[in-house]
Amino acid sequence: MTPRAVNPGARVLVVGGGYSGERFARAAAARGAQVWLTRRQARPVAEAEPAAQTLHWLHFDSGAAAIPALPEQLSHVLITLPPDAIGSDAALEHLLTPLRHQPLRWLGYLSTTGVYGDSQGAWVDEHSPTQPTLPRSQARLQCEQRWLGSGLPVQSFRLPAIYGPGRCPFEQLRNGQARLVHKPGQVFCRIHVDDIVGALLHAADQPEGRRPSVINVSDDAPCPSSETLGYAAHLLGCKLPELRHFEAIAPEMSPMALSFWADNRRVSNRLLCSELGYRLRYPSYREGFAASLREEQARSTVVMESG
Ligand SMILES: NC(=O)c1ccc[n+]([C@@H]2O[C@H](COP(=O)([O-])OP(=O)(O)OC[C@H]3O[C@@H](n4cnc5c(N)ncnc54)[C@H](OP(=O)(O)O)[C@@H]3O)[C@@H](O)[C@H]2O)c1
Repeated sequence: MTPRAVNPGARVLVVGGGYSGERFARAAAARGAQVWLTRRQARPVAEAEPAAQTLHWLHFDSGAAAIPALPEQLSHVLITLPPDAIGSDAALEHLLTPLRHQPLRWLGYLSTTGVYGDSQGAWVDEHSPTQPTLPRSQARLQCEQRWLGSGLPVQSFRLPAIYGPGRCPFEQLRNGQARLVHKPGQVFCRIHVDDIVGALLHAADQPEGRRPSVINVSDDAPCPSSETLGYAAHLLGCKLPELRHFEAIAPEMSPMALSFWADNRRVSNRLLCSELGYRLRYPSYREGFAASLREEQARSTVVMESG
């Protein structure tokens, strides 16, 4: 068995303790590591947390020029910040220099599969050309390349749509805001947040010579969004909205919503799962949605009981 690199001796910084960042931080703390996370607002200390798994929150907001003094002797760093509106990466701008003074063994960068652009439904892997179509994916590719060329021990993890508890279509189905859209031939790829965490820890645990610089983290089941919405409705036991054809509904969509339909690709996870031996916890949205719904329901029970 590979020895764990993120272990009680590790000192971990997560730049951007958002959805994926906080989940990663909690997993690292559960392995006994000391963990710091950044966010833009101050956060109260959660009293119910076991002391050994307490997360240390730092204030980092590039917009407010709030740059934290970094903890010393960091061994592992995860960067989750997206490029900002003008395409620059706040972590690169403000933290790269102080990070160079740390004894880092691993730096994970969360990127997107948008860097591959539109393959018209064909499979892409880490050797495929990067031809991003969307401006935000073009900016992302530039940020990713700067991290990879930084001289730090960087691995970039290219992610498709992230889902998990609180990020499934259950709420939209319940409140009537879900849209069932058919666009012939269009598929989407996705990944459960706990498989991002699992893949990051698995990659960090590999010996230095066995760490590819770029890894796709995607599940086994690219498919139309109408299929995943159908399954979510099945789990809830609720009705699906009326099916709309993409051409008919496109004029009603926001530019952001439309941009999600611009690229069509299937992202291969062969490097992660076959070559590096990572076993997905949620190979498809079926197990992933069911687990997410259970976790959402468990949380709302706790909130109701303590309320
Ligand atoms: N969501 C998806 O489906 C998807 C798909 C592919 C790739 N990605 C990428 O994967 C990464 C993780 O996604 P996520 O959904 O977990 O992200 P998220 O929840 O939005 O978290 C992003 C984190 O970055 C911090 N941040 C953003 N701009 C900042 C700035 N200017 N200064 C300081 N901190 C800043 C946020 O701070 P606050 O906590 O204060 O907000 C937050 O902690 C992101 O880069 C995202 O673009 C996401």
